Amino acid sequence: MREMITRKMVTDVAAMIAGQIACYYAFKYVLASMDPNRQKRLDAKKTSDEKLSKLGKRSITEGMNEYEEQIATELILPSQIEVDFDSIGGLEPIISSLQESVIAPLCYPELFNGGGNGLLGAPKGVLLYGPPGTGKTMLAKALAKESGATFINMHVSTMTNKWFGESNKLVAALFSLARKLQPAIVFIDEIDSFMRERSGGDHEVTGMMKAEFMTLWDGLTSSTDRIMVLGATNRPNDIDAAILRRMPKRYAVHLPDAAQREKILKIMLKDSQLDPKKFKLADIVRRSNGLSGSDLKELCRNAAMIPVREYLRSKEGIESLKQARSQNLSGGATPGTEAGAEGGAANASASTSASAVLGGRKSLMTRPLRTEDFFRTDAEVHIPMGSYNSQTKKVQVDSEPLD
Ligand SMILES: Nc1ncnc2c1ncn2[C@@H]1O[C@H](COP(=O)(O)OP(=O)(O)OP(=O)(O)O)[C@@H](O)[C@H]1O
Ligand SMILES: [Mg+2]
Repeated sequence: MREMITRKMVTDVAAMIAGQIACYYAFKYVLASMDPNRQKRLDAKKTSDEKLSKLGKRSITEGMNEYEEQIATELILPSQIEVDFDSIGGLEPIISSLQESVIAPLCYPELFNGGGNGLLGAPKGVLLYGPPGTGKTMLAKALAKESGATFINMHVSTMTNKWFGESNKLVAALFSLARKLQPAIVFIDEIDSFMRERSGGDHEVTGMMKAEFMTLWDGLTSSTDRIMVLGATNRPNDIDAAILRRMPKRYAVHLPDAAQREKILKIMLKDSQLDPKKFKLADIVRRSNGLSGSDLKELCRNAAMIPVREYLRSKEGIESLKQARSQNLSGGATPGTEAGAEGGAANASASTSASAVLGGRKSLMTRPLRTEDFFRTDAEVHIPMGSYNSQTKKVQVDSEPLD
Protein backbone atom coordinates (compact mmCIF):
# COMPACT_ATOMS: atom_id res chain seq x y z
CA MET A 1 0.00 0.00 0.00
CA ARG A 2 2.79 2.38 1.01
CA GLU A 3 4.67 1.46 -2.08
CA MET A 4 1.70 2.36 -4.23
CA ILE A 5 1.36 5.76 -2.55
CA THR A 6 5.06 6.51 -3.08
CA ARG A 7 4.84 5.51 -6.74
CA LYS A 8 1.78 7.71 -7.24
CA MET A 9 3.57 10.62 -5.60
CA VAL A 10 6.61 10.24 -7.82
CA THR A 11 4.41 10.06 -10.93
CA ASP A 12 2.50 13.16 -9.82
CA VAL A 13 5.67 15.14 -9.13
CA ALA A 14 7.15 14.06 -12.48
CA ALA A 15 3.95 15.05 -14.29
CA MET A 16 3.92 18.39 -12.52
CA ILE A 17 7.55 19.11 -13.45
CA ALA A 18 6.93 18.07 -17.07
CA GLY A 19 3.84 20.33 -17.12
CA GLN A 20 5.85 23.25 -15.76
CA ILE A 21 8.56 22.76 -18.37
CA ALA A 22 6.00 22.53 -21.16
CA CYS A 23 4.32 25.68 -19.84
CA TYR A 24 7.66 27.53 -19.74
CA TYR A 25 8.47 26.69 -23.34
CA ALA A 26 4.94 27.40 -24.55
CA PHE A 27 5.01 30.77 -22.79
CA LYS A 28 8.44 31.57 -24.24
CA TYR A 29 7.24 30.60 -27.71
CA VAL A 30 4.12 32.76 -27.43
CA LEU A 31 6.16 35.70 -26.15
CA ALA A 32 8.69 35.34 -28.97
CA SER A 33 5.99 35.18 -31.61
CA MET A 34 4.30 38.23 -30.12
CA ASP A 35 7.56 40.25 -30.25
CA PRO A 36 6.91 42.91 -32.89
CA ASN A 37 10.64 43.15 -33.68
CA ARG A 38 11.18 39.44 -34.23
CA GLN A 39 10.72 39.52 -37.99
CA LYS A 40 12.84 42.65 -38.19
CA ARG A 41 15.61 40.94 -36.27
CA LEU A 42 15.47 37.84 -38.45
CA ASP A 43 15.61 40.01 -41.58
CA ALA A 44 18.52 42.00 -40.16
CA LYS A 45 20.40 38.80 -39.44
CA LYS A 46 19.82 37.50 -42.94
CA THR A 47 20.88 40.76 -44.60
CA SER A 48 23.94 41.18 -42.41
CA ASP A 49 25.04 37.57 -42.99
CA GLU A 50 24.65 38.07 -46.73
CA LYS A 51 26.58 41.34 -46.75
CA LEU A 52 29.39 40.05 -44.57
CA SER A 53 29.88 36.95 -46.67
CA LYS A 54 29.99 39.09 -49.81
CA LEU A 55 32.65 41.19 -48.12
CA GLY A 56 34.56 38.01 -47.31
CA LYS A 57 34.06 38.50 -43.54
CA ARG A 58 31.67 35.65 -42.91
CA SER A 59 33.80 34.48 -39.98
CA ILE A 60 32.84 37.39 -37.76
CA THR A 61 29.10 36.63 -37.96
CA GLU A 62 29.49 34.03 -35.22
CA GLY A 63 30.25 36.32 -32.33
CA MET A 64 27.92 39.15 -33.31
CA ASN A 65 25.15 40.37 -31.05
CA GLU A 66 21.75 41.46 -32.34
CA TYR A 67 22.72 45.15 -32.29
CA GLU A 68 25.79 44.52 -34.40
CA GLU A 69 23.62 42.54 -36.79
CA GLN A 70 21.33 45.52 -37.12
CA ILE A 71 24.28 47.81 -37.81
CA ALA A 72 25.75 45.34 -40.31
CA THR A 73 22.72 45.88 -42.54
CA GLU A 74 24.13 49.36 -43.16
CA LEU A 75 27.32 47.98 -44.69
CA ILE A 76 27.93 49.14 -48.22
CA LEU A 77 29.17 46.64 -50.78
CA PRO A 78 31.49 48.29 -53.30
CA SER A 79 29.83 46.25 -56.04
CA GLN A 80 26.51 47.96 -55.33
CA ILE A 81 27.93 51.39 -56.09
CA GLU A 82 28.15 52.79 -59.57
CA VAL A 83 29.92 56.04 -58.73
CA ASP A 84 33.70 56.09 -58.92
CA PHE A 85 36.25 58.90 -58.79
CA ASP A 86 36.18 59.25 -62.58
CA SER A 87 32.50 60.14 -62.56
CA ILE A 88 33.12 63.14 -60.31
CA GLY A 89 34.11 66.33 -62.06
CA GLY A 90 36.25 69.16 -60.74
CA LEU A 91 36.92 67.78 -57.27
CA GLU A 92 40.36 66.34 -58.05
CA PRO A 93 42.21 68.31 -55.33
CA ILE A 94 39.81 67.02 -52.68
CA ILE A 95 39.95 63.48 -54.02
CA SER A 96 43.74 63.36 -54.05
CA SER A 97 43.99 64.93 -50.62
CA LEU A 98 41.47 62.41 -49.28
CA GLN A 99 43.41 59.56 -50.83
CA GLU A 100 46.80 60.70 -49.59
CA SER A 101 46.11 62.02 -46.15
CA VAL A 102 43.05 60.03 -45.11
CA ILE A 103 42.63 56.76 -46.94
CA ALA A 104 46.27 55.77 -47.31
CA PRO A 105 47.11 56.20 -43.58
CA LEU A 106 43.86 54.43 -42.70
CA CYS A 107 44.47 51.43 -44.90
CA TYR A 108 48.28 51.24 -44.76
CA PRO A 109 49.24 52.55 -41.31
CA GLU A 110 52.58 50.74 -41.40
CA LEU A 111 53.77 53.16 -44.10
CA PHE A 112 52.82 56.17 -42.03
CA ASN A 113 54.05 55.42 -38.53
CA GLY A 114 56.64 58.17 -38.95
CA GLY A 115 58.97 57.12 -36.15
CA GLY A 116 56.09 56.25 -33.87
CA ASN A 117 55.01 59.76 -32.91
CA GLY A 118 51.63 59.24 -34.56
CA LEU A 119 51.64 62.59 -36.33
CA LEU A 120 51.11 60.99 -39.69
CA GLY A 121 48.22 58.79 -38.60
CA ALA A 122 44.81 58.93 -40.25
CA PRO A 123 42.47 61.56 -38.81
CA LYS A 124 39.59 60.10 -36.81
CA GLY A 125 37.08 62.52 -38.23
CA VAL A 126 36.66 64.11 -41.64
CA LEU A 127 33.95 66.58 -42.66
CA LEU A 128 32.78 67.40 -46.17
CA TYR A 129 30.72 70.57 -46.22
CA GLY A 130 29.33 72.94 -48.79
CA PRO A 131 26.20 73.98 -50.64
CA PRO A 132 23.59 71.38 -51.65
CA GLY A 133 24.17 69.38 -54.81
CA THR A 134 27.93 69.91 -55.00
CA GLY A 135 28.83 66.23 -54.86
CA LYS A 136 29.51 65.52 -51.18
CA THR A 137 27.40 62.38 -50.99
CA MET A 138 28.73 61.35 -54.38
CA LEU A 139 32.29 61.71 -53.12
CA ALA A 140 31.51 59.52 -50.12
CA LYS A 141 29.98 56.89 -52.40
CA ALA A 142 33.08 56.90 -54.58
CA LEU A 143 35.19 56.47 -51.46
CA ALA A 144 33.06 53.49 -50.48
CA LYS A 145 33.73 51.97 -53.86
CA GLU A 146 37.40 52.77 -54.22
CA SER A 147 38.97 53.11 -50.78
CA GLY A 148 39.21 49.43 -49.95
CA ALA A 149 38.03 50.14 -46.39
CA THR A 150 34.79 48.74 -44.97
CA PHE A 151 32.12 51.40 -45.39
CA ILE A 152 29.26 51.69 -42.94
CA ASN A 153 26.59 54.13 -44.09
CA MET A 154 25.07 55.08 -40.77
CA HIS A 155 21.47 56.21 -41.02
CA VAL A 156 20.29 58.17 -38.04
CA SER A 157 16.99 56.29 -38.20
CA THR A 158 18.79 53.00 -37.53
CA MET A 159 20.33 54.38 -34.36
CA THR A 160 17.21 55.86 -32.87
CA ASN A 161 15.16 53.38 -30.96
CA LYS A 162 12.18 54.14 -28.83
CA TRP A 163 13.28 51.78 -26.06
CA PHE A 164 15.37 53.32 -23.36
CA GLY A 165 19.03 52.34 -23.61
CA GLU A 166 18.68 50.60 -26.99
CA SER A 167 20.11 53.55 -28.94
CA ASN A 168 23.18 53.48 -26.75
CA LYS A 169 23.64 49.80 -27.42
CA LEU A 170 23.33 50.47 -31.15
CA VAL A 171 25.98 53.18 -30.96
CA ALA A 172 28.27 50.83 -29.04
CA ALA A 173 27.59 48.13 -31.64
CA LEU A 174 28.46 50.55 -34.44
CA PHE A 175 31.93 51.05 -33.03
CA SER A 176 32.48 47.43 -32.03
CA LEU A 177 31.46 46.23 -35.49
CA ALA A 178 33.69 48.84 -37.14
CA ARG A 179 36.54 47.58 -34.96
CA LYS A 180 35.94 44.01 -36.10
CA LEU A 181 35.86 45.10 -39.73
CA GLN A 182 38.64 47.70 -39.72
CA PRO A 183 39.95 49.56 -41.63
CA ALA A 184 36.51 51.10 -41.59
CA ILE A 185 34.81 54.34 -42.52
CA VAL A 186 31.61 55.26 -40.70
CA PHE A 187 29.76 57.66 -42.97
CA ILE A 188 27.07 59.95 -41.58
CA ASP A 189 25.31 61.92 -44.30
CA GLU A 190 23.60 65.16 -43.24
CA ILE A 191 25.52 64.91 -39.98
CA ASP A 192 23.98 68.18 -38.80
CA SER A 193 20.67 66.40 -38.23
CA PHE A 194 22.31 63.83 -35.94
CA MET A 195 24.93 65.99 -34.28
CA ARG A 196 23.00 69.22 -34.06
CA GLU A 197 24.00 71.74 -31.41
CA ARG A 198 22.81 70.15 -28.17
CA SER A 199 20.02 72.02 -26.46
CA GLY A 200 17.74 71.72 -23.48
CA GLY A 201 14.96 70.69 -25.85
CA ASP A 202 16.79 67.50 -26.86
CA HIS A 203 15.08 64.25 -26.04
CA GLU A 204 16.91 62.46 -23.25
CA VAL A 205 17.61 59.44 -25.43
CA THR A 206 19.09 61.62 -28.20
CA GLY A 207 21.32 63.37 -25.70
CA MET A 208 22.54 60.08 -24.29
CA MET A 209 23.13 58.69 -27.75
CA LYS A 210 25.22 61.71 -28.73
CA ALA A 211 27.22 61.48 -25.51
CA GLU A 212 27.88 57.77 -26.07
CA PHE A 213 28.88 58.44 -29.66
CA MET A 214 31.34 61.11 -28.64
CA THR A 215 32.88 59.00 -25.88
CA LEU A 216 33.43 56.08 -28.20
CA TRP A 217 34.75 58.40 -30.88
CA ASP A 218 37.21 59.83 -28.37
CA GLY A 219 38.30 56.27 -27.65
CA LEU A 220 39.41 56.02 -31.27
CA THR A 221 41.73 58.98 -30.95
CA SER A 222 43.78 57.32 -28.29
CA SER A 223 43.73 53.83 -29.77
CA THR A 224 45.37 52.34 -32.81
CA ASP A 225 42.03 51.33 -34.28
CA ARG A 226 41.77 52.12 -37.95
CA ILE A 227 38.31 53.64 -37.90
CA MET A 228 37.31 57.01 -39.28
CA VAL A 229 34.07 58.93 -39.05
CA LEU A 230 33.21 60.77 -42.26
CA GLY A 231 30.46 63.37 -42.15
CA ALA A 232 28.79 65.40 -44.88
CA THR A 233 26.61 68.43 -44.41
CA ASN A 234 25.36 71.57 -46.05
CA ARG A 235 24.72 73.21 -42.68
CA PRO A 236 28.10 73.14 -40.90
CA ASN A 237 27.06 75.95 -38.57
CA ASP A 238 24.41 73.74 -37.02
CA ILE A 239 26.86 71.05 -35.96
CA ASP A 240 27.70 70.75 -32.30
CA ALA A 241 31.04 72.43 -31.56
CA ALA A 242 32.29 69.32 -29.75
CA ILE A 243 31.63 67.28 -32.87
CA LEU A 244 33.42 69.78 -35.08
CA ARG A 245 36.42 69.48 -32.81
CA ARG A 246 36.47 65.74 -33.46
CA MET A 247 36.53 66.37 -37.20
CA PRO A 248 39.81 68.20 -37.60
CA LYS A 249 40.07 67.54 -41.30
CA ARG A 250 37.51 69.55 -43.22
CA TYR A 251 36.97 69.84 -46.92
CA ALA A 252 34.92 72.65 -48.38
CA VAL A 253 33.07 71.50 -51.48
CA HIS A 254 32.14 74.79 -53.12
CA LEU A 255 29.88 75.54 -56.04
CA PRO A 256 31.89 74.70 -59.18
CA ASP A 257 33.78 77.46 -60.97
CA ALA A 258 33.99 77.65 -64.78
CA ALA A 259 36.79 75.09 -65.11
CA GLN A 260 34.99 72.68 -62.77
CA ARG A 261 31.67 73.14 -64.57
CA GLU A 262 33.41 72.31 -67.82
CA LYS A 263 34.76 69.07 -66.35
CA ILE A 264 31.39 68.14 -64.87
CA LEU A 265 29.55 68.84 -68.14
CA LYS A 266 32.11 66.82 -70.10
CA ILE A 267 31.51 63.85 -67.81
CA MET A 268 27.75 64.20 -67.99
CA LEU A 269 27.67 64.55 -71.77
CA LYS A 270 30.37 62.03 -72.58
CA ASP A 271 27.96 59.57 -74.18
CA SER A 272 25.64 62.11 -75.76
CA GLN A 273 25.61 63.00 -79.43
CA LEU A 274 26.52 66.62 -79.80
CA ASP A 275 25.97 68.84 -82.81
CA PRO A 276 29.45 69.64 -84.16
CA LYS A 277 28.38 73.12 -85.24
CA LYS A 278 25.64 74.19 -82.91
CA PHE A 279 26.98 72.81 -79.64
CA LYS A 280 29.41 75.11 -77.83
CA LEU A 281 30.48 73.80 -74.43
CA ALA A 282 32.13 77.11 -73.55
CA ASP A 283 28.77 78.92 -73.91
CA ILE A 284 27.04 76.52 -71.56
CA VAL A 285 29.89 76.81 -69.06
CA ARG A 286 29.66 80.60 -69.17
CA ARG A 287 25.89 80.72 -68.86
CA SER A 288 25.67 78.20 -66.05
CA ASN A 289 27.53 80.34 -63.55
CA GLY A 290 26.26 79.73 -60.00
CA LEU A 291 24.81 76.28 -60.70
CA SER A 292 25.77 73.26 -58.64
CA GLY A 293 26.71 69.85 -60.03
CA SER A 294 23.21 68.64 -59.37
CA ASP A 295 21.73 71.66 -61.20
CA LEU A 296 24.01 70.88 -64.15
CA LYS A 297 22.75 67.31 -64.15
CA GLU A 298 19.19 68.62 -64.36
CA LEU A 299 20.21 71.02 -67.13
CA CYS A 300 21.61 68.12 -69.17
CA ARG A 301 18.58 65.97 -68.48
CA ASN A 302 16.20 68.68 -69.67
CA ALA A 303 18.34 69.40 -72.72
CA ALA A 304 18.43 65.70 -73.63
CA MET A 305 14.65 65.57 -73.54
CA ILE A 306 14.22 68.36 -76.09
CA PRO A 307 15.21 66.39 -79.22
CA VAL A 308 13.14 63.46 -77.90
CA ARG A 309 10.10 65.71 -77.48
CA GLU A 310 10.64 67.25 -80.89
CA TYR A 311 10.73 63.82 -82.41
CA LEU A 312 7.62 62.65 -80.60
CA ARG A 313 5.78 65.74 -81.84
CA SER A 314 6.91 65.24 -85.45
CA LYS A 315 4.74 63.41 -87.94
CA GLU A 316 6.96 60.37 -87.79
CA GLY A 317 6.98 60.38 -84.00
CA ILE A 318 3.20 60.64 -83.75
CA GLU A 319 2.89 57.78 -86.19
CA SER A 320 5.32 55.64 -84.21
CA LEU A 321 3.49 56.39 -80.97
CA LYS A 322 0.19 55.33 -82.54
CA GLN A 323 1.79 52.15 -83.77
CA ALA A 324 3.27 51.48 -80.34
CA ARG A 325 -0.07 52.04 -78.66
CA SER A 326 -1.87 49.64 -80.93
CA GLN A 327 0.86 47.06 -80.41
CA ASN A 328 0.55 47.56 -76.69
CA LEU A 329 -3.19 47.06 -76.81
CA SER A 330 -2.79 43.84 -78.73
CA GLY A 331 -0.09 42.77 -76.26
CA GLY A 332 2.59 42.60 -78.93
CA ALA A 333 4.92 45.33 -77.72
CA THR A 334 8.53 44.41 -77.37
CA PRO A 335 10.90 46.75 -75.63
CA GLY A 336 13.56 48.53 -77.63
CA THR A 337 16.83 46.76 -77.90
CA GLU A 338 19.11 49.75 -78.07
CA ALA A 339 19.22 52.98 -76.21
CA GLY A 340 18.28 56.06 -78.18
CA ALA A 341 20.59 57.62 -80.70
CA GLU A 342 21.93 59.97 -78.10
CA GLY A 343 21.99 57.24 -75.42
CA GLY A 344 24.01 59.31 -72.91
CA ALA A 345 24.18 58.95 -69.16
CA ALA A 346 21.78 61.82 -68.72
CA ASN A 347 19.37 60.82 -71.39
CA ALA A 348 19.72 57.08 -71.62
CA SER A 349 16.74 56.43 -69.41
CA ALA A 350 14.57 58.90 -71.29
CA SER A 351 15.48 57.54 -74.68
CA THR A 352 15.31 53.92 -73.61
CA SER A 353 11.85 54.34 -72.18
CA ALA A 354 10.81 56.31 -75.23
CA SER A 355 12.05 53.59 -77.54
CA ALA A 356 10.20 51.08 -75.41
CA VAL A 357 7.08 53.17 -75.88
CA LEU A 358 7.73 53.05 -79.57
CA GLY A 359 7.16 49.34 -79.49
CA GLY A 360 10.47 47.82 -80.30
CA ARG A 361 11.78 50.34 -82.81
CA LYS A 362 15.53 50.14 -82.71
CA SER A 363 16.20 53.70 -81.71
CA LEU A 364 14.77 57.17 -81.73
CA MET A 365 15.79 59.18 -84.70
CA THR A 366 16.57 62.21 -82.60
CA ARG A 367 18.93 64.98 -83.63
CA PRO A 368 22.17 65.72 -81.73
CA LEU A 369 22.16 68.23 -78.89
CA ARG A 370 22.64 71.95 -79.45
CA THR A 371 23.63 74.69 -77.04
CA GLU A 372 20.15 76.25 -77.20
CA ASP A 373 18.61 73.01 -75.87
CA PHE A 374 20.24 73.70 -72.53
CA PHE A 375 18.49 77.01 -72.09
CA ARG A 376 15.06 76.27 -73.48
CA THR A 377 12.28 76.33 -70.95
CA ASP A 378 9.10 74.38 -71.30
CA ALA A 379 5.92 74.27 -69.29
CA GLU A 380 7.79 73.46 -66.08
CA VAL A 381 8.18 76.16 -63.50
CA HIS A 382 11.79 76.56 -62.47
CA ILE A 383 12.84 77.53 -58.99
CA PRO A 384 15.72 79.97 -59.40
CA MET A 385 18.82 77.83 -59.14
CA GLY A 386 22.21 78.43 -57.66
CA SER A 387 20.75 80.48 -54.87
CA TYR A 388 22.38 78.81 -51.92
CA ASN A 389 21.09 80.82 -49.04
CA SER A 390 22.97 83.30 -46.99
CA GLN A 391 23.96 80.75 -44.37
CA THR A 392 26.87 79.62 -46.56
CA LYS A 393 28.39 83.00 -46.18
CA LYS A 394 28.68 82.72 -42.46
CA VAL A 395 30.37 79.32 -42.51
CA GLN A 396 33.29 79.69 -40.19
CA VAL A 397 34.83 76.26 -40.40
CA ASP A 398 36.44 77.27 -43.67
CA SER A 399 39.74 78.01 -42.03
CA GLU A 400 41.45 74.96 -43.45
CA PRO A 401 39.52 73.96 -46.51
CA LEU A 402 42.18 72.05 -48.37
CA ASP A 403 45.59 70.95 -47.53
N1 LIG B 1 31.29 67.31 -59.06
C1 LIG B 1 30.32 66.60 -59.61
N2 LIG B 1 30.58 65.80 -60.67
C2 LIG B 1 29.61 65.09 -61.26
N3 LIG B 1 28.33 65.08 -60.85
C3 LIG B 1 28.00 65.85 -59.81
C4 LIG B 1 28.98 66.64 -59.13
N4 LIG B 1 28.37 67.30 -58.12
C5 LIG B 1 27.07 66.92 -58.15
N5 LIG B 1 26.85 66.06 -59.17
C6 LIG B 1 25.54 65.48 -59.51
O1 LIG B 1 24.61 65.94 -58.56
C7 LIG B 1 23.99 64.86 -57.88
C8 LIG B 1 23.78 65.23 -56.44
O2 LIG B 1 25.02 65.32 -55.78
P1 LIG B 1 25.20 64.96 -54.24
O3 LIG B 1 24.03 64.16 -53.77
O4 LIG B 1 26.53 64.36 -54.06
O5 LIG B 1 25.14 66.39 -53.60
P2 LIG B 1 25.39 66.78 -52.09
O6 LIG B 1 26.56 67.70 -52.08
O7 LIG B 1 25.47 65.57 -51.24
O8 LIG B 1 24.08 67.61 -51.78
P3 LIG B 1 23.30 67.76 -50.39
O9 LIG B 1 24.13 68.70 -49.57
O10 LIG B 1 22.01 68.37 -50.80
O11 LIG B 1 23.16 66.40 -49.80
C9 LIG B 1 24.91 63.69 -58.08
O12 LIG B 1 24.21 62.48 -58.07
C10 LIG B 1 25.53 63.97 -59.42
O13 LIG B 1 24.69 63.50 -60.44
MG1 LIG C 1 24.27 64.80 -49.78
